[in-house]
Amino acid sequence: MQENALYTITNGLYVLSVQDGEGYAGSLVDAVSQIAVSPYLIMVSCMNNSHTKSCIEKAGEFGISVLAKETDPFVVANFGYQSSRDVKKWQNIPFAEIDGLPYISDALAKIRVRVVNKLIYASNTVFIAEVVDAFDSRSGEPLTYKYYRDGFKEQVAIAFSAYKAGRSAGNAACKKSQTAMSASSSSSTAQPSSPASAEKRWTCTLCGYVYEGDIPFEELPDDWRCPLCGVGKDMFELQ
Ligand SMILES: Cc1cc2nc3c(=O)[nH]c(=O)nc-3n(C[C@H](O)[C@H](O)[C@H](O)COP(=O)(O)O)c2cc1C
Repeated sequence: MQENALYTITNGLYVLSVQDGEGYAGSLVDAVSQIAVSPYLIMVSCMNNSHTKSCIEKAGEFGISVLAKETDPFVVANFGYQSSRDVKKWQNIPFAEIDGLPYISDALAKIRVRVVNKLIYASNTVFIAEVVDAFDSRSGEPLTYKYYRDGFKEQVAIAFSAYKAGRSAGNAACKKSQTAMSASSSSSTAQPSSPASAEKRWTCTLCGYVYEGDIPFEELPDDWRCPLCGVGKDMFELQ
C-alpha cells in the first residue's frame, strides 16, 4: 500500500478543548469532518492513548478551534507534541473561554459539540458529535495538514525546541518522552550505540517527532511506537 496516497485527503488542523476535572485538557487533531447537516454532525477521531479522548468520554462535550494558516507554530507544538497528562497546555497560550470551554483566541471558528455516538477501533476512538453552537467565525485561510507537512512542521519543531530549552531540566514533557523511549528500548535486545547523528534523522510523518535515542532506529523493536503520537515505526521517514 502507498500510504502517501492517504495524505492527499484534505484535512485541516484543529485544537480540541475539554473539561478535565477543575481544569482543561486539549489536543491537536487533523481527523475532523462534518458528516451531516440535519442535525449538524461532526466526526472526530482521537487516538486511544490520548488524554483528551479520555476526558471527552467523561465530559460528553468538547470544543473545536479551527486553526488559521497564520497560527503561531507553538500552538501546534503545545497541543500536538505533549500530553495534557503532563502539561497544563492552556496556561501556555492565549485563549477565549466561552460557556466553560477554552478556544484558541485567533481561531477561524469556535464550535461546541456534544457526543452522540462513538466507534472504538484498535488505535482510535471515533466520536460522532452534534453541533451545539458555532461562534466567532471569521474569514481567513485554514491551516491544512498538507501545509503542516510541506514545511510548517519545521517551524513547529523549532518552536517546541525553544519552549523545551526554556523550561527547567526536569520538565514533565521531556521526562515523558524519555520514559517512553527508555521503556521501549528496554524490551529491545539491541545494544546501545552512538546517538543518532544529524544526517540520519528518523522523523514521525504524523506529528514531526524526531527520534534521537541511543539505539539505532532500525534496531528498535517492531512494536516500538512514537512517544508523542503513538504511531508505529512504519510511519517514520529518514529525513
Ligand atoms: C499534525 C498532527 C496531527 C495529529 N492528528 C491527530 C488526530 O487526528 N487525532 C489524535 O488523537 N491525535 C492526533 N495528533 C496527536 C495528538 O495531538 C498528540 O498525541 C497529543 O500529544 C495528545 O495530547 P493529549 O494526551 O493531551 O490528548 C496529531 C498530532 C499532530 C502533530
